[in-house]
Amino acid sequence: MKLGVCYYPEHWPEERWALDARLMRDLGLDLVRIGEFAWARMEPAPGQADWAWLDRAIETLTGAGLQLLLGTPTATPPAWLSRAHPDILRVDADGRSRNHGSRRHACLNNPTYRAESRRIVTAMAERYGEHPALVGWQIDNEFGGGGTARCYCDHCAAAFRAWLAARYGAIEALNEAWGAVFWSQTYADWSQIDPPDDRVDKPNPSHALDYARFCSDATAAYQQEQVDLLRRLSPGRFMTHNFMGLFRELDPFDLAASLDLATWDSYPTGNLERWGPALAPDPEGQYAPDVGHPLITGMAHALTYALKRAPFWVMEQQAGAINWGRINPGVRPGTTRLWCWHALAEGASAVVFFRWRATLFAQEQYHSGLLRHDGSPGGGLADVRRLAAERERLAAIAAHPRANRVGLLIDFADLWALELQPHRAGFDYLAHLFVYYQALARLGIGVDLVPADADLAPYTLLVAASAHLGNAALAGRLESWVRQGGQLLFGVRAGFKTPSNRVTDEPLPGVWRSLVGATIVDWQALPDGVGWPVVGEVPGLVGPAGTWVETLRTETARPLAHFQLPDGPVPALVAHERGAGRVTTLGWVPTVAQAASLLATLLVAAGIPPGPALAPGLVAARRGPYLLLLNFTDGPLAATAAGRDVTVPARDVVVLADDAVLEPPQV
Ligand code: GAL
Repeated sequence: MKLGVCYYPEHWPEERWALDARLMRDLGLDLVRIGEFAWARMEPAPGQADWAWLDRAIETLTGAGLQLLLGTPTATPPAWLSRAHPDILRVDADGRSRNHGSRRHACLNNPTYRAESRRIVTAMAERYGEHPALVGWQIDNEFGGGGTARCYCDHCAAAFRAWLAARYGAIEALNEAWGAVFWSQTYADWSQIDPPDDRVDKPNPSHALDYARFCSDATAAYQQEQVDLLRRLSPGRFMTHNFMGLFRELDPFDLAASLDLATWDSYPTGNLERWGPALAPDPEGQYAPDVGHPLITGMAHALTYALKRAPFWVMEQQAGAINWGRINPGVRPGTTRLWCWHALAEGASAVVFFRWRATLFAQEQYHSGLLRHDGSPGGGLADVRRLAAERERLAAIAAHPRANRVGLLIDFADLWALELQPHRAGFDYLAHLFVYYQALARLGIGVDLVPADADLAPYTLLVAASAHLGNAALAGRLESWVRQGGQLLFGVRAGFKTPSNRVTDEPLPGVWRSLVGATIVDWQALPDGVGWPVVGEVPGLVGPAGTWVETLRTETARPLAHFQLPDGPVPALVAHERGAGRVTTLGWVPTVAQAASLLATLLVAAGIPPGPALAPGLVAARRGPYLLLLNFTDGPLAATAAGRDVTVPARDVVVLADDAVLEPPQV
């Protein structure tokens, strides 16, 4: 397990670099990431390069024994470029251009910016690509960050039209796929189509879904140019991008396809603020105030692992207070170490801290660093020292993959389609997945996120929370996986739409119907506070059913639970035996407790042994023979794992190997 740090030599006097490098090594860090925002220092004026400072910075850092990770600086085109070519500035949905003065202000589809990006990356790679200490490249920085996933400039419009022409072939096919006859949207020519910006009231959801897909594809195509250059000029180094966990606006699977390694930027206190309202609107208040929400962090780790189905890096690990949240809570000693152990437990193989020293200027002045503004040790530093001393244990665990047998299917087109038309306030695709994620966590069972084209063989239980757009290829693969013994659970809103985001004309759940063995007869949203009573044979699975309900009519499936309606009972949960496996379909959005009851039964059917019994606030994760128990509260908590009673100290971790508790390493 490698440990590293993000460093900005351009922010500090050159005389300081050697001391910083020595302190990094003394701390036990292995690597340093630099360069990703330094374009204006690399090229102060058009045609004028200045690499000397970066040469010296690299020599100072690597000379001290640090490995090097270089970021390409394309998230921050310099002022001379923005001013010479104002059309590189991206345009928001309301038609306003971004301006110079921050970052990510250029449009990835702009030909000038594309050419300039290739040029600076080529120059950087020619200069440093074969540096012996260089281990990898981070391409750009957080694609889509700062509200930049979508641009609506003329170049994007042209590229979107070309993308549509390639996808549909003929304009008539697009009209059909989008249902463009509605409100006389019908197009006679590609040139009539614009991106769905704010000038239309409620864009056609098929149009908007295709724009989301296009923006992901366009970002991947932009990234691909850098990947191609770097592979040629810097052979043997890994290519990565720092993703943003549960960020929704770009499909990270599209972007990860051509990368070697997935990484993400983990800011647990900030992520609780930005994702918590949708995912966990009523936090149970069981976690310490400075740890964030470990299950939200955990699901983001799981997603990053899923991108390459391999161990990932945390490329920016919060190690103190951040500056961009609402409250920005202080982070106490112990919490940064806990976050790193958690990342490891969920499949990380390296953690890079953000950032070495708190900046004295500009946008992130209130952001912590491992060193404070004055260069003295910050709160997270002692945690990093402790982690460095625990390295042997960390490395032994990092050598193992995640070994989960439960998968949660995830599909960004489903997410976007339901975001475009949630139909009921509060219905949220990721929140629905998160219900099942939390339920499994409560049962002490690890879960992977599984994209539609993944190999299903590692899993014995799969949950398709909202398989909204029919996917005939996946239906076929699920059918044979179930027949071979898989346990599949469908949740609500399955199969309602076609891939182009129209409603299917088949009885619901459309392409999944033969798997389900039942028809969804009726669906409806329920107002807050309204619940339908449920009676059934699954232990613990009792009503009420709220939010969104779907009544079923069994064909070859059999009912396991019924809604008790005034006119009589109606199937609410059905099971369908298929070969050696079974498909179970649930007709409402469960609470976490309801989901846990149902999953407990399905886990038994899937032959998955029970997880550890966990007090609330504990999180369990398994890597190979290791079981890690992490306590995110301010008091000691009890767990029972493999028949053994264990106490996990506050904001700390206990590691079991082959069911024996390992003594904490002496540090
Ligand atoms: C990340 C970004 C970094 C820095 C950091 C502050 O999203 O990649 O450059 O801004 O946030 O928390």
